[in-house]
Amino acid sequence: MEACSQGKGRETISQTLAFLGEYTVSHFSAEEKLMAKHNYPEIEQHKEQHKWFVEAFMDLKKQLEEYGPAGHIVIKTNRVLVGWLNSHIRNIDKKLGLFLQDK
Ligand SMILES: [Fe+2]
Ligand SMILES: [Fe+2]
Repeated sequence: MEACSQGKGRETISQTLAFLGEYTVSHFSAEEKLMAKHNYPEIEQHKEQHKWFVEAFMDLKKQLEEYGPAGHIVIKTNRVLVGWLNSHIRNIDKKLGLFLQDK
């Protein structure tokens, strides 16, 4: 988002998607292991959202491979990430964090 505001979105999109590739594997599996370990009651809904994000990411990656660092991919990536931050990280992950604090 910072790169976009500086007009450097197209330059950094490959790097952003490479980071997201790593994030979807390591971060999601760490969260899912914790949920399983502590019998988190909302594990299924949470995992469904992770799955949705992986699919959105794969789609962005495919488009980057097909079109290169095009403006429309930068815009779509931004939209996916802002949505993810607001709907998942600020709500669903926060809820999980509060649950784990009591463990
Ligand atoms: Fe998370
Ligand atoms: Fe999560």
